[in-house]
Amino acid sequence: MKTKLITLLAVLLCWAGADAQTASENARPAKKILVAYFSWGGNTQHVAERIASLTGGTLFRIEPMKPYPTEYRPCTEVAKAEKEADARPAIKSKVDNWDQYDTVFIGCPVWWWTAPMIICTFAESYDFGDKTVVPFCTYAATYRDETLARIRELTPAAEHLKGFGTTGKDTNGVESWLRTINVIR
Ligand SMILES: Cc1cc2nc3c(=O)[nH]c(=O)nc-3n(C[C@H](O)[C@H](O)[C@H](O)COP(=O)(O)O)c2cc1C
Repeated sequence: MKTKLITLLAVLLCWAGADAQTASENARPAKKILVAYFSWGGNTQHVAERIASLTGGTLFRIEPMKPYPTEYRPCTEVAKAEKEADARPAIKSKVDNWDQYDTVFIGCPVWWWTAPMIICTFAESYDFGDKTVVPFCTYAATYRDETLARIRELTPAAEHLKGFGTTGKDTNGVESWLRTINVIR
């Protein structure tokens, strides 16, 4: 009889423990998402906005202190010079409360076969330990994978989820990608 009572007590205690664990898991706050992007012509911004609206993430525009030329050709020349100089163009503003974010999307256009140099400035400005980085990019025709890989390379302290690249403003595929990487259900 005594043994039965002790066994019953042990089972009840295990139950209580499991319940407490489930409750604390449920109470864990949802992951906070930042969607940081650089966009010169608006394509990457469009994709970033779609990601933010699907995930509830906070948008952060990576804006250069010194604006790039608004004409295409002069912009390509400045971008090329920055790449050749391994430049770190200054960014206008900082992310507020960086520590609150668990997941950071980083997006940019492909510029000269890779990420624009301002993405290096951004990546070097924050501590990515404990963050999950999700790269994305827009491009005209080529160097999507190299650009996504570059964003991963620039954030070595972070964990990484599979990135996404699209041509122009095309947001088809954004939702299914976010499901595949389990950021949305
Ligand atoms: C300076 C510069 C360099 C570019 N280099 C490439 C490139 O190497 N490969 C490519 O497919 N598209 C290239 N593009 C096209 C852009 O990646 C593409 O238009 C992108 O969607 C623009 O994004 P945004 O509107 O957010 O700036 C380049 C555009 C610029 C302005």
